[in-house]
Amino acid sequence: MKKILIWFLLICAGGAQAQPLTPVALLAPDKTRGKAVMQALSERKSTRQFAPDKLTLRDLSDLLWAANGVNRPDGKRTAPSALNRQDIDVYAAFEDGAYRYDAGSHTLMPVTQQDVRPVKEAPVVLLLVAKEDTAYAPIDAGIVAQNIYLFCSGVGLATVTRGQMDADKLAKDLKLTEKQKVILNQPVGYFKKTAAELKQDKTESKSAK
Ligand SMILES: Cc1cc2nc3c(=O)[nH]c(=O)nc-3n(C[C@H](O)[C@H](O)[C@H](O)COP(=O)(O)O)c2cc1C
Repeated sequence: MKKILIWFLLICAGGAQAQPLTPVALLAPDKTRGKAVMQALSERKSTRQFAPDKLTLRDLSDLLWAANGVNRPDGKRTAPSALNRQDIDVYAAFEDGAYRYDAGSHTLMPVTQQDVRPVKEAPVVLLLVAKEDTAYAPIDAGIVAQNIYLFCSGVGLATVTRGQMDADKLAKDLKLTEKQKVILNQPVGYFKKTAAELKQDKTESKSAK
């Protein structure tokens, strides 16, 4: 009886195993969306609470392109970098795994099926990873962080850049090389509704019935 129970548990665990991740081709950026630059700057802020909803592919695609995508035919990026080293890679961590953003092909490349998000409340946490730990790396990462902030304020997403994290554990989980270093992590999501907004939603859905 004990043996049968163990087999049953093993089969259940096997059945629950996640499917291997595959590359995610992102949508071409919608360069017409968002608020004017001055409005986006005036609304930029840090937000530390997030709604549980996953980002749409549209929002995720535009977010990654805004963060550090290719914006010119010569391969240069939305974020400047010292000596054009393009030394910051953006990793995107979700509940079901993490990917590296390949800016050239505008594709998410699978890295791990582990949930490595330092902030579990956010549907996606962007990890800004320097190819090498140089003096310019934190500066270049900071510029990518500000791109993310401005995209988020421009389209109404919540975000905060964070230095707080276990960088060594993240490096291990993301299978980084000795030279690479996680500089910042930046959760992104939709704004959490206030109690008053949730109450309003309930009233509206009741009256619609
Ligand atoms: C390099 C850097 C590291 C930061 N690290 C954290 C962090 O670990 N945790 C956090 O909650 N906020 C962090 N922040 C966000 C700041 O606390 C925030 O920008 C500051 O309080 C000003 O608020 P504002 O962004 O709304 O203007 C960091 C900001 C920067 C630029």
